Amino acid sequence: MKPLTLELENFECHSNSFIDFTSFNSALIIGKKTVKIWNKPSEDVDWNLYLDTFDLYFTSPPYFETEKYGTDTSSVDKQSWFRYNTFELWKNDFFFNVTESVWKTIKKDGYMMINIIEPSSRGKRMPLCDDMVDHFKTFDGCHYLGKIGMRMMARPNASELKSVFIEPIWTFRKDNSTYEFGGLDKFFA
Ligand SMILES: C[S@@+](CC[C@H](N)C(=O)[O-])C[C@H]1O[C@@H](n2cnc3c(N)ncnc32)[C@H](O)[C@@H]1O
Repeated sequence: MKPLTLELENFECHSNSFIDFTSFNSALIIGKKTVKIWNKPSEDVDWNLYLDTFDLYFTSPPYFETEKYGTDTSSVDKQSWFRYNTFELWKNDFFFNVTESVWKTIKKDGYMMINIIEPSSRGKRMPLCDDMVDHFKTFDGCHYLGKIGMRMMARPNASELKSVFIEPIWTFRKDNSTYEFGGLDKFFA
């Protein structure tokens, strides 16, 4: 399958296209950015094309069973919940497998950030996160830095509007065991 190439034009942003998310809820990008979108399940992408390429891998993966995306579409067979019908299969063959492949695309000092909580299936919480950290730490040069809390947007009409909800962003770094907050200045010099 040929990848789609998408060019975004006339978006306003910092001159070197770095987006300062500390100042904006959304960002405008000035200039041109080329984005490649693979219209296929992430486990079917050939990640070997991108070995040692990326500074950051951020993902909010689909959860086992609790998020049934695509139920009313003809491409439901691309969804992880459809393809992996037990928690162990979903965890090992989808989530851990894709993460291991993508880990190899991250450059030295690059970050891997994962937004995930333990999914529930039929009211039962499935153990995932401890196992995830233990497993990812076995990847080449992988250091677990900790969790960053991400405040969630309230869903329309949801009772959670009255409360603050935080989800963890599990953060790992390649060949480096330190966070470098404040190291963003170089992008604005
Ligand atoms: C939690 S959502 C995150 C969506 C997006 N990051 C956002 O913030 O709007 C998970 C997404 O994973 C997609 N997904 C499901 N199975 C997948 C697979 N096998 N490979 C790649 N993406 C998949 C779903 O269609 C859904 O869009």
